[in-house]
Amino acid sequence: ERIPEVEEILSKMTLEEKIGQLNLVTPGGGVATGAVVSKNVEDKIKEGKVGGLFGVSGPDKIRIAQEYAVNDTRLGIPLLIGSDVIHGYKTTFPIPLGTASSWDMDLIKQTAQVAATEATADGINWNFSPMVDIARDPRWGRIAEGAGEDPYLGSQIAKAMVEGYQGEDLALPNTMISTVKHFALYGAAEGGRDYNTTDMSRLRMFNEYLPPYKAALDAGAASVMSSFNDVDGIPASGNKWLLTELLRDRWGFDGFVVSDYTSVNEMIAHGLGDLKAVSALSLKAGLDMDMVGEGFLTTLGKSVKEGKVSEEEITTAARRILEAKHKLGLFEDPYKYLDSKRPETDILTQEHRDLARKAARGSFVLLKKHQDALPVSKSAKIALVGPLADNKNNMLGTWAPTGDPSLSVSILEGFKNVAPEATISYAKGANISNDTSFAKKVNVFGPRIMISEESAESMLEEALAAAEKSDIIIAAVGEATEMSGEAASRTDIKIPESQKILIRELAATGKPVVLVLMSGRPLDISEEMDLPVSILQVWHPGVEAGNAIADVVFGDYNPSGKITASWPRNVGQIPVYYSVKTTGRPAPSEDFAKFKTNYLDAKNSALIPFGYGLSYTTFEYSDVKADQKELTRNGKISLSAKVTNTGNYNGEEIVQLYIHDKVRSVTPPVKELKGFQKISLKKGESKIVTFEITEEDLKFYNTQLDFVAEPGEFEFFIGGSSAIEAAGSFNLNN
Ligand code: IFM
Repeated sequence: ERIPEVEEILSKMTLEEKIGQLNLVTPGGGVATGAVVSKNVEDKIKEGKVGGLFGVSGPDKIRIAQEYAVNDTRLGIPLLIGSDVIHGYKTTFPIPLGTASSWDMDLIKQTAQVAATEATADGINWNFSPMVDIARDPRWGRIAEGAGEDPYLGSQIAKAMVEGYQGEDLALPNTMISTVKHFALYGAAEGGRDYNTTDMSRLRMFNEYLPPYKAALDAGAASVMSSFNDVDGIPASGNKWLLTELLRDRWGFDGFVVSDYTSVNEMIAHGLGDLKAVSALSLKAGLDMDMVGEGFLTTLGKSVKEGKVSEEEITTAARRILEAKHKLGLFEDPYKYLDSKRPETDILTQEHRDLARKAARGSFVLLKKHQDALPVSKSAKIALVGPLADNKNNMLGTWAPTGDPSLSVSILEGFKNVAPEATISYAKGANISNDTSFAKKVNVFGPRIMISEESAESMLEEALAAAEKSDIIIAAVGEATEMSGEAASRTDIKIPESQKILIRELAATGKPVVLVLMSGRPLDISEEMDLPVSILQVWHPGVEAGNAIADVVFGDYNPSGKITASWPRNVGQIPVYYSVKTTGRPAPSEDFAKFKTNYLDAKNSALIPFGYGLSYTTFEYSDVKADQKELTRNGKISLSAKVTNTGNYNGEEIVQLYIHDKVRSVTPPVKELKGFQKISLKKGESKIVTFEITEEDLKFYNTQLDFVAEPGEFEFFIGGSSAIEAAGSFNLNN
């Protein structure tokens, strides 16, 4: 449906003015992730050659830009103001792969709401988040920015984030437009190498990779960002099947599509022609806004003259940009996000920091318990060692351009805050990496890997001396921020050798050892899992890192997270994910069997499976059952389990339901997540957890790409991770 105010403006616009609306610029104040930043931004805005701006923050600065647009251009059309608010604005939450591990949709939505409150207080009205790319390759650094490997969980999280950012009404001053990205399949880059080619069947796309994008759009995401990769041989930014046939014709999307940073220009390097050709191709494919590259700005006019692009096509794109501005209420009040008092009252409040602490605690995953090292007494003698123990530069994680590392709480500070009675002996123990050339690559946005002047031997000696006088050793180890994230792919996903040496020596002391492990991706920790240590995975926890870690280490919070992307035994196993197909030659067990699908030198299963995570307490599952054997097409079936807290602490458990479609027209995965509930159980307490399943939950895309449920037998599984056996089955009737 056309919006009269927008149509009226459009009717007055020249072709050049319309093309101007399709141009997104950044003066490079934020993070420049491409080869160029925009030049003469001020003049371009005044000349009506800019539709949106990003990389600028603060109401006062943005007001200047908005005034140029409103006062100095012929039609006074206000600007969209974008930003990458990926996991919080100034109050930085854990990296998205971390918050996903909480499986707590309310919490995730709240973090998005707070991000929207803070970003809009600082003048932003358009967010380049959520990133919902399914990722099954932990070599890919951007796995940190998404929800992991599973389409069902990824879809729930996509919805929660969009709802959090956009709220009930986009015209409110504390909500902003959400952009689902990177459309599409960016997480399937070959070899886990960023920006690399993707190639997959339509069946796999529809069943495994596309659902989270669709869920974000169903939740109302008002914009989409195209990805850098090609899809079926055509880069996403110029892919008509993707941006028009699928997105608009099939899914009914009516918002606007923005390219990624210079991704239109990059189609030249992809091999699709010169700037004029790729810009025309992109516009015709359904791309509305060109980020930074200015291919649209500089060539579309010529393409119209040459008859390669019609004015109508440009009008359509401009209309979508204006409609977004209208949704935000910018035509009514271009300055509505520019209240210079709001930053002080709305940003980094204690309430927001409290939420960051809660979100961080909820994101931690207890990967291994060794003896009863955890939780630690608040009066213990503790050796706190490791390169990440007293290190504010690495708490926020990747893609936190608006966060301030100096405001983050280090682990050492957090320990002192939460356990003031404890005796803490600190030693760095090792560098994150001793490799100076590696450190240089990681340190592009700041000093993440600081290589000490001190020798590795003397650092190790100090750590061992601290251990000697303590009852327990806590070692904060893992990846620096920016060892994951954009353009941070790794072929070796182990903890760097400098730290492994420290870990081995600590484990050899015979004292209880807890590894507080930070990373932006699943790591290969096969060696550490075999050592006599406990392992608490904390990702990059955000601004409240140290406090949240201390809450868990000292038992004020019982860890409850479960991983959302499988951890491999070695990189040779990648891609690694739980919802595999059986193949025609399924391996009968984890032991090698000739002429079956398996490896000579490793098991098929992940080292740590999807959905796995421990607690200080223990949970037992019993009475897993279906309330009936037959499900009719319009009926429902209840699948339930009794969950009992059998340990010594109150705790939370993420109860997961998986279903296996036993026979169907398209090879089924061995199991697929179809539901989950996060429940609290006091020690000794039991609860019955019930999932109601209808035909809708059993649907998949068949070879015609119809979404269908086929009759037959379905096995179900209920438990605390994906590595569980079927509990029973039911039939879907015809
Ligand atoms: O939003 C990002 C995207 O995820 C990667 N390239 C740059 C964009 C804008 O900063």
